[in-house]
Amino acid sequence: MMNDKKILYSGMQATGNLTLGNYLGALKNWVSLNEEYECFWGVMDLHSLTVRQVPAEFRKRARNLLVLYIAAGLDPKKNCIYFQSHVSAHAELSWLLSCFTYMGELNRMTQFKDKAAKHADNINAGLFTYPVLMAADILLYQADYVPIGKDQKQHLEITRDIAERFNSIYGDVFKIPEPYFGKSGAKIMSLQDPSKKMSKSDENVNGSIYLMDDPDTIVRKCKRAVTDSDSEVRYSEDKPGVSNLLEIYSACTGKSIAESEKEFAGVGYGDFKMGVAEAVISVLKPLQDEYERLLKEKEYIDSLIKENDEKASYFANKTLRKVKKKLGLTEMPR
Ligand code: TRP
Repeated sequence: MMNDKKILYSGMQATGNLTLGNYLGALKNWVSLNEEYECFWGVMDLHSLTVRQVPAEFRKRARNLLVLYIAAGLDPKKNCIYFQSHVSAHAELSWLLSCFTYMGELNRMTQFKDKAAKHADNINAGLFTYPVLMAADILLYQADYVPIGKDQKQHLEITRDIAERFNSIYGDVFKIPEPYFGKSGAKIMSLQDPSKKMSKSDENVNGSIYLMDDPDTIVRKCKRAVTDSDSEVRYSEDKPGVSNLLEIYSACTGKSIAESEKEFAGVGYGDFKMGVAEAVISVLKPLQDEYERLLKEKEYIDSLIKENDEKASYFANKTLRKVKKKLGLTEMPR
């Protein structure tokens, strides 16, 4: 599989229900990277354990996320789509790298501070070393690029710092990864509070459209979306609600913001919201149908999982072996 294509690595945690924001902002754009790059897409189930999970639900959710990747168009034959927990090299490298990471660095991570505040009753060491595991994910595959949102930028920076530190001692072991911000991964905000990102962990379920929402729910949520008191469908900083709906419409239809504004010129908010809902449904319905179809193809999915786990292990272990050797760990006699 390796050729001269650049390597791209990313993944999502198997936590919570994915939203339209996750799809339009990440997953949908990943599909367009399929051809140009050698892609690895992980279901980051080890990271999910930093928060307590219900085993039966978690198992299902992780598998469903992998199926969703495929339903969304990621090609499991061309790319590597796999579970982080199936490739033990992640946990191993994470330990090794933690010995090259400073407490002070981890202490500065804003996501740790946020999460610690949110889960004050369970500030575990995994939450603290989360970025080290993420560094291991990326560095194992010698990734050139990592498509990430702004919230993960700091984690990529620490990944680069750890890699550079290691390389400066042991020589060129790791590729130093760059962030990949993509063309214009849409940034979708909450329908109820457009100053906040649409989030799978939002307590207000009306703020987010979930990928599995049925058409009636989508219509209802769009109709309830906050707008403002004038009635002009126009993209503007002082109209965050309307702008967000335009953003959604534009991302779903592929039309530019300007075209979208023109289309809704002189149209009332009620009809505008209906138009947005229809655009969302036209994107989510086929995705949901394909997802449902694939969920039933148990054997096919199992065989893909097996194939891709092996592919991922092969590449990950190559790097891991090199790291161990450089560190002076003894080799297992053959
Ligand atoms: N931390 C990322 C998130 O929550 C998920 C993730 C884990 C990731 N490992 C990664 C993303 C490696 C990119 C590369 O969004």
